[in-house]
Amino acid sequence: MSKEYKRTLITTALPYTNGPVHIGHLAGVYVPADIYARYLRLAGRPVTLIGGSDEHGVPITLKARQEGVTPQDIVDRYHKLIKESFEALGISFDIYSRTTSAIHKETASEFFRHLYDKGEFVEKSSMQLFDPEASQFLADRYVTGECPHCHNPKAYGDQCEACGSSLNATDLINPKSAITGATPELRETRHWFLPLDKWEPALRQWILEGHKEWRANVYGQCKSWLDLGLQPRAVSRDLSWGVPVPVEGAEGKVLYVWFDAPIGYISNTKELYPETWETWWKDPETRVINFIGKDNIVFHCIVFPAMLMAYGDGFQLPDNVPANEFLNLEGDKISTSRNWAVWLHEYLSDFPGKQDVLRYVLTANAPEAKDNDFTWRDFQARNNNELVAVLGNFVNRVTVLTHKYFGGVAPAAGTLEAVDEAAFAQIDELKKGVSEAIETFHFREALKLAMDIARTGNKYLQDCEPWKVAKTDMARTATILNTALQICADIAVVMEPFMPFMSERLAASLRMDKLTWADLGRRDMIKAGTEIAVPELLFEKIDDEAIKAQTDRLERIKEENRLKSWQPQPRQADVDFDTFMKADLRVGTVLECTKVPKADKLLRFLIDDGGLTPGGRTIVSGIAEHYTEPEKLVGRQVVFIGNLPPRKLKGIVSDGMILSALNADGSLTLIAPSSPATPGSQVK
Ligand code: 2FM
Ligand code: ZN
Repeated sequence: MSKEYKRTLITTALPYTNGPVHIGHLAGVYVPADIYARYLRLAGRPVTLIGGSDEHGVPITLKARQEGVTPQDIVDRYHKLIKESFEALGISFDIYSRTTSAIHKETASEFFRHLYDKGEFVEKSSMQLFDPEASQFLADRYVTGECPHCHNPKAYGDQCEACGSSLNATDLINPKSAITGATPELRETRHWFLPLDKWEPALRQWILEGHKEWRANVYGQCKSWLDLGLQPRAVSRDLSWGVPVPVEGAEGKVLYVWFDAPIGYISNTKELYPETWETWWKDPETRVINFIGKDNIVFHCIVFPAMLMAYGDGFQLPDNVPANEFLNLEGDKISTSRNWAVWLHEYLSDFPGKQDVLRYVLTANAPEAKDNDFTWRDFQARNNNELVAVLGNFVNRVTVLTHKYFGGVAPAAGTLEAVDEAAFAQIDELKKGVSEAIETFHFREALKLAMDIARTGNKYLQDCEPWKVAKTDMARTATILNTALQICADIAVVMEPFMPFMSERLAASLRMDKLTWADLGRRDMIKAGTEIAVPELLFEKIDDEAIKAQTDRLERIKEENRLKSWQPQPRQADVDFDTFMKADLRVGTVLECTKVPKADKLLRFLIDDGGLTPGGRTIVSGIAEHYTEPEKLVGRQVVFIGNLPPRKLKGIVSDGMILSALNADGSLTLIAPSSPATPGSQVK
């Protein structure tokens, strides 16, 4: 940041309300934005944190269609769930509103109308995909097909999630309607386009020259977009769900969701500050920061800024757009449609009171520079080995010792020794490091340095050994514990942005009033004579059982997804009729069935084949893993091929092959007649 601003407006990507939020959203956007906002508040700098739901767009209408309810039902349900779970996680929004609000509709309409009146749009007709069965145009997620760039067969009409390309529906190869599965036809329709090409020189100047400090992933994506050359982009759609296009003759057309959603940041600020919202958007003394995920970079760095430039009237462009990469889950991409996610509302009910643990793990492992992986083992290890063993342990030792030696009353410090001075100096250094890391959006690094304050505390206790000193020198013990209590207070302050619930409990137990960043490192935050609360553990261990419940759930989901995506084997090459008729298929009755010794997969069957084989026919079949109680097969009927050349398996001559079906889940089902058939009868 090159200049000192008077205030900071932080926006967070508005999540679509077609499902709950998951850890990918949290790690990418909401936890870092909240850390930043809380830090600025602690530092006494004016800040507003804006959030809200993105309630238009195709994902919502598709979900409503799937469930046979209205889009309004869907957005009402998820807006409530998302808002409540953000609150429960301590995301300190100053407002969390929604794009179906009246004020948003009015703001977005006015924004469009202003650009329209200024002649900032190009109005043109083009051929668009149309679903003849559903009688509607197909834009964005209403259509899927093959990506022209990476050939992913499941790209959407607006974006390919495999290669990240932004697409037009008409770019897709072999498009299919997501509503009916029909192959769309091309029909002419009229839309309003924002000529991004007009704003290209200004965008180049602003980003490529003016914001070289942006994260490499953000700067790099902007550069490649600009180098490819910008094209006019349609800002309206032929849909019924959305903000109606506010001009004559635009019936049946709504604003493109990516036109209205970012305006939601403005509407929500207006709703929060009806009188003063313009100061937060139009005063050059306001610093705007957009927290987003990497799939939203183009909209926040190219499209929305072009809209703001076109509007004029002093709207400020973002000073930084700290977009994160993606968080994966147990090695696989998080996906709402595949239910491959840790959902925030489920986490909150599975781990009550452990909001800070999630906030901690997501920050310690944040995908700031590259995609990262969340695993439940890492979650457990970070809780048990870091929060419990380092932070919780330090605070607990200090408060227990204060109670043991001083009846819970903070003792006064005497003359400080070198080791005490060194600890305070170390904390001053760490404070600088944490501030710098947060201010440059390096939250992982900031958290690591903040934890180093607790590590400094542990080392200080280890070096000073007050439990030994107390045997001979209570004055020195008092100084050590006074210093250690100041470090506990430092932890309450420095951790507030990261783990606000723990910080509040710790501050309350140390009888601290308002926390401020300026106090961090002070040597008298806890005054002598303060009555410290009876120690209670700040964190508790998470056991293997709790982790197993989560990994078992993911295993079940993996299995469900495998079943859902199962496809029958493609049809085999034709076989001529006479060749097929040569196969001698018969029904037989099982007389004996036993496991073949030293062969995990083999069962030996003795089959009554109606006397074709005197004494019965022996067939060895590789189905032992699927039928673990072979004796129960005795008496059952099977179908077998009776004219294959006999072959030896584990020393047994097998005369035929028993037929079974290979199911989607990999299990086998023996084929049997639907009612008893005569042993030896031919299958025709
Ligand atoms: O990607 C998404 O989930 C979008 N709903 C983000 C919108 S950000 C802003 F523009 F509102
Ligand atoms: Zn692609």
